[in-house]
Amino acid sequence: MLLENRVAIITGGAMGIGRGIALKFAAEGCSVVIADVAAAEGKKTAEEVSQKGGEGIFLPCDVTASRQVKDMVGKAISKFRKIDILVNNAGGVPDPKGSLDEVSEEQWDKSLNLNLKSVFLCCQAVVPHMKKNKYGKIINVSSLGAVHPAVSVVHYHAAKAGVLGLTYNLAFELAPFNITVNVILPGPIRTPFWEPVTKDVPDKDAYFAEIAKKEVPMQRVGTPEDIAGAALFLASELSAFVSGETINVAGGLPQLPHDATIGG
Ligand SMILES: NC(=O)c1ccc[n+]([C@@H]2O[C@H](COP(=O)([O-])OP(=O)(O)OC[C@H]3O[C@@H](n4cnc5c(N)ncnc54)[C@H](O)[C@@H]3O)[C@@H](O)[C@H]2O)c1
Repeated sequence: MLLENRVAIITGGAMGIGRGIALKFAAEGCSVVIADVAAAEGKKTAEEVSQKGGEGIFLPCDVTASRQVKDMVGKAISKFRKIDILVNNAGGVPDPKGSLDEVSEEQWDKSLNLNLKSVFLCCQAVVPHMKKNKYGKIINVSSLGAVHPAVSVVHYHAAKAGVLGLTYNLAFELAPFNITVNVILPGPIRTPFWEPVTKDVPDKDAYFAEIAKKEVPMQRVGTPEDIAGAALFLASELSAFVSGETINVAGGLPQLPHDATIGG
């Protein structure tokens, strides 16, 4: 097993991509702290982790609040005595209005807090424990939209691009402590993330098929498992000498889809 006796914190691990990563890590022997605002889903995912092999616990935490982040990390350390892996996955689009003339200062701050400041807060709380052990694997979840937007969501894409800068800087700063810092850029992945825009869509399969056809060279949208595979590589010793790296997990994006280039 690739993560035997390892301990991971996964923010936003209750649902979607974070849950997929939690289950993948658990199957490789990892214990997982699910740090999330969604208590019912978080507890359920933690139970699923425990059923798979590693021990799962849920700790309630709003990753935009520094006190809650510190409390969560303190409890994780009391329970497991160490943190080997931090997956900064919590994030989303707090407001779908995204063009420059629509976004208020308040919406901007909300999105930057959720998608960028949260990563800073979690790294700041966890890294001292990693430094002590001279070991750590930090995996940030950005978005392909940070470098290749398909729609204008200026606050979200700016925040996710900030995650790239944070990743490169920390990879440099933390390399002497044997802490790697890498970032995944997901393309469209079918998760609850899409609920605000699909709640009134009658045929969701057709909706995602259309996105896939228009945007994704592989002609399908991704699954949490697709992201979990890349996360497992970055969390394990397979990537021992990889830091400051970005991995697009996006079905061939940002290449153009076939139809866009061949008579489409
Ligand atoms: N799904 C996609 O198409 C897609 C594409 C690119 C990037 N991403 C990014 O991947 C990550 C995971 O997305 P997803 O699709 O699984 O989203 P999701 O909405 O399905 O799940 C997000 C999880 O984060 C939790 N969360 C939200 N706000 C939080 C907060 N303040 N504190 C703690 N937890 C919080 C939610 O409760 C939920 O469990 C996000 O950072 C998202 O921006 C997703």
